[in-house]
Amino acid sequence: MIQTVIISGGTSGIGLAAAEILAGEGIRPILLGRNEERGKAAQDKVPGSLYIPCDVTKKEDCERAVKAASSIGNIKGLVLSAGIYTEGLLENTTDEEIQKLFETNVFGAMKLTREAIPFLRSAKGSIVAVASDAAMRGNVQCSLYGATKGALTSFIRSLALEMAVDGIRANVVSPGDIDTPLLDRQLKEYGGNKEEMREWYPLDRIGKAAEVGEVIAFLLSEKASFITGAIVPVDGGLTDW
Ligand code: NAI
Repeated sequence: MIQTVIISGGTSGIGLAAAEILAGEGIRPILLGRNEERGKAAQDKVPGSLYIPCDVTKKEDCERAVKAASSIGNIKGLVLSAGIYTEGLLENTTDEEIQKLFETNVFGAMKLTREAIPFLRSAKGSIVAVASDAAMRGNVQCSLYGATKGALTSFIRSLALEMAVDGIRANVVSPGDIDTPLLDRQLKEYGGNKEEMREWYPLDRIGKAAEVGEVIAFLLSEKASFITGAIVPVDGGLTDW
């Protein structure tokens, strides 16, 4: 039987890196995303993968994508990597920005997970959500983004308890700054550079997408069979300063 893992935001950055690692383990990654061109390019890059269009903020998209994925094989895993980033002082934010951040980073993850649960249950699958160091402690100009990642983290910790009876594990990875298109957009929009960021890290550099992907693949696998409800920092020691 074919084993699949659904990856939201799987056409870029951390999600795409996780897909490449999982494909190397013989799993068929199902790459969810909103951009057809990026989706096809990711599908070409990752052997055995399949791109399925899905905007996680749309219930019907989540329903349709999970149904399509279930027709391919056993859904052994769900990676919640779709996310957006904004920063700024709270008093400069708009209602639309608050709405969009939560709709994507929190409600989207909840909707997609809800659709996937019946299939994960029958496959005794596993869930990994990509949160952030911004959820673990205060981050300047990050009150909204940090709040979305804090909500996502709490969601997964309670879900882990709720699903344990079914043998479904749910965990969180909490990356620091990772070199991905999201980080490039962040630096372009808000300033700063990777060299400057390096100095914040005990390991003297920012992270690579594959370094988060490896942890995601481990948490999804049987090697992590006794780990659930955990938050695993992948941040080069950032949150230990
Ligand atoms: P990325 O931008 O390369 O990948 C995120 C993907 O999610 C993109 O393809 C984007 O189009 C997609 N996405 C956004 N909204 C969506 C929606 N409504 N429906 C479907 N897909 C949607 O960024 P990256 O860095 O790979 O981020 C992955 C996750 O890691 C995000 O949740 C991000 O918040 C988190 N993260 C990233 C860090 C970094 O420094 N790169 C640090 C900490 C957390």
